[in-house]
Amino acid sequence: MKGIKVNFFVKTLCLCLCWPLFALAQTSAPASADGKTPVWNELKGEKLEALQLKGDVTRGAEAFQPCQGCHRRGAVGSASGLYPRLAGQHATVLVEQITDIRAGKRVNPTMAPFSDEHVLTTQEIADIAAYLQSLPPKTLPEAKGPGSALERGEKLYAKDCAVCHGNRGEGDAKKFMPLVAGQHYQYLLREMALIRDGKRGNANPDMVKVISAYGNADLEAVADYISRLLAP
Ligand code: HEC
Ligand code: HEC
Repeated sequence: MKGIKVNFFVKTLCLCLCWPLFALAQTSAPASADGKTPVWNELKGEKLEALQLKGDVTRGAEAFQPCQGCHRRGAVGSASGLYPRLAGQHATVLVEQITDIRAGKRVNPTMAPFSDEHVLTTQEIADIAAYLQSLPPKTLPEAKGPGSALERGEKLYAKDCAVCHGNRGEGDAKKFMPLVAGQHYQYLLREMALIRDGKRGNANPDMVKVISAYGNADLEAVADYISRLLAP
């Protein structure tokens, strides 16, 4: 009887003492300067590993085959914008997005079974990224926007987006800024809305600040403009 009481007491004490530590561990995800938002694109774990591996273009072409069912041959994507063009994208950006998707940081249930760790090794991620980067970023003519507000789109892009995505939409490999020039209109539109509305998961917080002021007409104008930029 005495033993049970002591045991109970010790357990309760343990729980009381340890609970705050447990709670702390739960909330101690990496935080940015304001202590609230998680760090964007933290370079650690598998992401860092994949970035440090040397990708092989030939092996990457092989490993990309199962992806072609959706992203198509030559990784041109679909004009409907359901599947983005991946051809010509910076390898760093591709590694970032694939590892975020499979870590569940970027929401993409459609693709998850194909990028799962059971079907794709870290080396294959590096290989695929090298392969995709080597492909020409072709644009599909039928995947452009309607062309009705290009002047407005150009102004918005120059004012709010070029600083990160480059004057010609070329992005910046070192800073993980995606190439957006000539990407499919419908895909651009969908991603911008997801990023604005906090539904993409791994969005860059500085981009969110800029795009949260955008109404749908602004999104349409700027996506239209970008879809017509020629990727360098
Ligand atoms: C079942 C269809 C499907 C398959 C197969 C698939 N994907 Fe995807 N993928 C998608 C969809 C849909 C998106 C866009 C999701 C969104 O709207 O955010 C996407 C997005 C991506 C992106 C992000 C592109 C960007 O511009 O940010 C990358 C990178 C990618 N896929 C790589 C791959 C690779 C590599 C494979 C093969 C291992 C693959 N995908 C297989 C459907 C698929
Ligand atoms: C502070 C830098 C920054 C600014 C400003 C910015 N972006 Fe981005 N944008 C990014 C980064 C970084 C990503 C990709 C990484 C992520 O968030 O997952 C991204 C992603 C995107 C994507 C998705 C690309 C893809 O392949 O899925 C689109 C579209 C986009 N930005 C458009 C815009 C537009 C349009 C503007 C201006 C209204 C803009 N961005 C302003 C940094 C920026």
